[in-house]
Amino acid sequence: MQYDDRTTLPEPDTLSARHSERVADFVRARIAAAGGSISFAEFMHLVLYSAGLGYYAAGSRKFGEQGDFVTAPEVSPVFGRVLARQCAEVLAACGGGSILEYGAGSGKLAADVLKALTRLDVVPDRYDILEVSADLRERQEQFLRAEVPDLVSRVAWLEQPPVSHSGVIIANEVLDALPVERFTREVQGIAQLRVEAGDTGLQISTAPAPEKLAQAVAAIEDELGRQLPEGFVSDVSLGLPGFIADIAKGLEQGVAFLFDYGVTRAEYYARERSDGWLRCHFRHHVHSDPLILMGIQDLTAWVDFTAVAHAAIDNGLDVAGYTAQAQFLMGGGLDAEMQDFASMPLDSQLALSGQVKTLTLPGEMGEYFKCMALRRGGVATPSAFALADRTHTL
Ligand SMILES: C[S@@+](CC[C@H](N)C(=O)[O-])C[C@H]1O[C@@H](n2cnc3c(N)ncnc32)[C@H](O)[C@@H]1O
Repeated sequence: MQYDDRTTLPEPDTLSARHSERVADFVRARIAAAGGSISFAEFMHLVLYSAGLGYYAAGSRKFGEQGDFVTAPEVSPVFGRVLARQCAEVLAACGGGSILEYGAGSGKLAADVLKALTRLDVVPDRYDILEVSADLRERQEQFLRAEVPDLVSRVAWLEQPPVSHSGVIIANEVLDALPVERFTREVQGIAQLRVEAGDTGLQISTAPAPEKLAQAVAAIEDELGRQLPEGFVSDVSLGLPGFIADIAKGLEQGVAFLFDYGVTRAEYYARERSDGWLRCHFRHHVHSDPLILMGIQDLTAWVDFTAVAHAAIDNGLDVAGYTAQAQFLMGGGLDAEMQDFASMPLDSQLALSGQVKTLTLPGEMGEYFKCMALRRGGVATPSAFALADRTHTL
């Protein structure tokens, strides 16, 4: 993956720059109200989710070519079609049930999955969406009304996780959008990275880690069997266990498919990853300065999938599979989706082969992105994991 130097970032347009100034004022006011600094996780939450201001909560275009980044469903409908085949397997094993998608973005994945399930003749009665951004909820509804007018009546936007649910849960690139704590190991203990106002703008400061963060890092070091090196900076999502607990709470029977860029804990906290996993996305440039372009750039952190597995097990789920996106797609029915390739017009062939390359090549999304499936209720392992399951590496 290519990381851009800050100096090569494009200039935001006037409206975006003004919006970002408003977000920066809001963040500075919150820092002042908090007595001079806030944790990095609080900062990340403010710039991504503050009502009407945060990156996901205000009106900018985020997904696709005109946005800041491209997710798998935005790359190609093939992603949703293969996933729909896996949903069909799980729904059959549950004897029916519904689909619940977390963080549906533009609504593209929901539309692709619903269309594909219609073709497979197994469209469920309900497709629920749990989306934290009111702005995105509105856009998802508009998009689905246009794309799947006959099916939109089956889609409902939930305010909170259902009390009881059987079937499939989908979350594509949601775990990486959960705010992370940033920390560094010092000789005398763990320090928390905080954000404070300096003379020339916001800056990072450190303070002794609060107990919850110190305990989380101690548990990581315990599991690794070594202390992290002095000066090592990394990330940990303290919100992740709660997110997985929410998923687990209502799932009576079925499978949750979680897609994200991520690695195992041993890889996440490897000595050479000494500056952590936080990345910023602005107009398709990836860089590492979260303190600029506030509210108009995305902040994300790669996922520690071992942490996801721990949280799942703690909440009574088991890990049905963990594999790279390329293997998930190839094991899950990509070949069946390519059956008509030879009879397609040349321009469609070229477009489709380009999309499949982006989804599957190791240097693109094929290897960095993983799928973890969490299960309850004795449902058979989805066939997408038959090709290469890496659960044993977690
Ligand atoms: C990176 S985008 C991915 C969007 C979409 N899934 C896709 O693949 O294009 C992250 C999405 O997760 C949503 N989100 C973030 N935290 C969430 C949470 N705790 N519950 C539900 N949605 C959340 C964001 O508002 C946004 O829609």
